[in-house]
Amino acid sequence: MCTLFWEKCTFLKTFRQSNMENKKAEQQNQQFWDEVAPVHFNSYDLQSLRTGRSLIDEVQKKELYPIEGKSLLHLQCHIGSDSISLAMDGAEVTGIDFSEKSVALAKQLNEELGASVQFLQGNVLDCIGKIDQQFDIVYTSQGVLGWLNDLNKWATTVAHYLKDGGTFYIQETHPVLYMVDDDTKEGVKLTYPYFHSKEPMRWGEGPDYSDKTYISKNHTFEWTWSMSDIVNALIKQGLQIQFINEYDKLFYQALDSMEKRADGWWYLPGHEQKVPLMFTLKAVKT
Ligand SMILES: C[S@@+](CC[C@H](N)C(=O)[O-])C[C@H]1O[C@@H](n2cnc3c(N)ncnc32)[C@H](O)[C@@H]1O
Repeated sequence: MCTLFWEKCTFLKTFRQSNMENKKAEQQNQQFWDEVAPVHFNSYDLQSLRTGRSLIDEVQKKELYPIEGKSLLHLQCHIGSDSISLAMDGAEVTGIDFSEKSVALAKQLNEELGASVQFLQGNVLDCIGKIDQQFDIVYTSQGVLGWLNDLNKWATTVAHYLKDGGTFYIQETHPVLYMVDDDTKEGVKLTYPYFHSKEPMRWGEGPDYSDKTYISKNHTFEWTWSMSDIVNALIKQGLQIQFINEYDKLFYQALDSMEKRADGWWYLPGHEQKVPLMFTLKAVKT
C-alpha cells in the first residue's frame, strides 16, 4: 500500500511539474513571439496587402475556397496578415493569438487597411468561452502546431468553435521535415526524432525566418507531432477527415539548402518528389 501511495505521489508530482514546465515553455515562446512580431511587421509582404492583394496562396485557394460570406476563426493568427487576406477574399474573420504584441500589430494593420477583422489575445489551448460564437470555418496555417504542447486540447478548441457541418482547414510544415538537418558535411541528414516527446526541443537564438539579418534574443521550445498525432487528435473530436495532401514544396525557407523557385515556393534541391515538406488537411464536423 505504501509503495502504491508513493508511486501515485511520484506520478502526480511528475504530472504537475511537467504542466508547470509546459507553462514556463509557453511563456518563453510568448516572449519570443512578442519580440519578433515587429520584425515580421517590417519584413512580411504587407505591401501586397496595401495594394489590395491577398496573401493566401493558390494551394489554399484551390482546397478551401470559396469563403465569401462565411464566418471564419483563424487560430494563431500572428500579426494578422493572413486573417486580413481571408477577409479581403470575402470571409468574416476573427483572429486569435497569445502574443500581445502580435495582436496589437494585427489591430494596427486592420485599422490601416480599413479591414473588419476581430482580433483577440488568447491561448488556443485554453480559449473555450472567450468567443461567444461558432464558425463555418476554423482555419490555421504555416508554423502553428510545433508551439503547442497538447494537440488534444487544440483539437477540442477546433471542434468547439466549429458549427455542425463546419470545415476545419490547416496548411502546415510536414512533420517529416522536422527530422531533417542540412547543417552537416554530408548534406541533408535525418537528425531529429519524428515521434512526439513530452519534453520540448529547445532552440537557441538565431536568424529570424522572415528577416535573416535579425538575430532573436529569446530561445524557444517546440514540440514535434507526427502525422498520426495530428489526424487522431481531430478524429477523437468527431471530425471527419476529407483529405490530407502532401507536397514537396514549402511556404518558407526552413533549411539553408532550400531554394525558392519561380512559382514562389521553396524546394529541397535533389529531393523533389522524394521528401514531403508541407501538408494540408480538411475535415468536417459532422
Ligand atoms: C508562425 S506564426 C503563425 C503563422 C502565421 N501564418 C504567420 O506567419 O503570420 C505562429 C503564431 O502562433 C502563436 N502561438 C504560439 N502558441 C500559441 C498558443 N498556444 N495560443 C495562441 N497562439 C499561439 C504565436 O504567437 C505566433 O503568432
